[in-house]
Amino acid sequence: MKRVAILISGGGSNMLRLVEDMTGDHPARPVLVASNDPAAGGLDKAAAKGIATAAVDHREFPRDRAGFEAALLKPLLAAEPDIICLAGFMRILTPGFVTRFSGRMLNIHPSLLPKYQGLDTHARALAAGDAEAGATVHEVTPELDSGPILGQVRVPVLPGDTPQALAARVLEQEHRLYPAVLRRFAAGNRTPLIL
Ligand code: GAR
Repeated sequence: MKRVAILISGGGSNMLRLVEDMTGDHPARPVLVASNDPAAGGLDKAAAKGIATAAVDHREFPRDRAGFEAALLKPLLAAEPDIICLAGFMRILTPGFVTRFSGRMLNIHPSLLPKYQGLDTHARALAAGDAEAGATVHEVTPELDSGPILGQVRVPVLPGDTPQALAARVLEQEHRLYPAVLRRFAAGNRTPLIL
């Protein structure tokens, strides 16, 4: 059974979908949910599911990314994860941190990568006049939002869409994509999944 740690920064809806899928014949189980924000709503949701949680407030490490990551590593390594899932984790991780978990760290990003790496993906898709948007699950490598793609889902952009409306439509599909990709990844399948 693979051990999965999930890193979040906010409400944790993707985290919850991953956790809810990891039962029965799923090849993995959640062992830790950790956040850079002690107020992240997802921490309570994880605790309510009986999962160990940890919070390391990045604001306690101003201009000290290495210090923040060292503090985050403590509960993370103690949980002995085989796989780490970033699920709405909004801190950029240093190459040193990422390399340590090379080939076993996943991220979900709300765009059709390689388009729109970074922030404000939905507003950028609308500004470009794209007919489609979507989400991507990829392996995390030192370069931001650039690792090998493990899965992708597309949604239509609709007339009158706002960034918020588009984000909600994409998020709904993220909730299908991420559990499906993690299930395959934990079983050793890295072939991209196109939903
Ligand atoms: C999701 O849309 C996820 O793709 C995005 O943050 C949201 C988190 O929602 N992630 C990023 O933008 C990463 N750069 P959640 O906390 O409800 O899962």
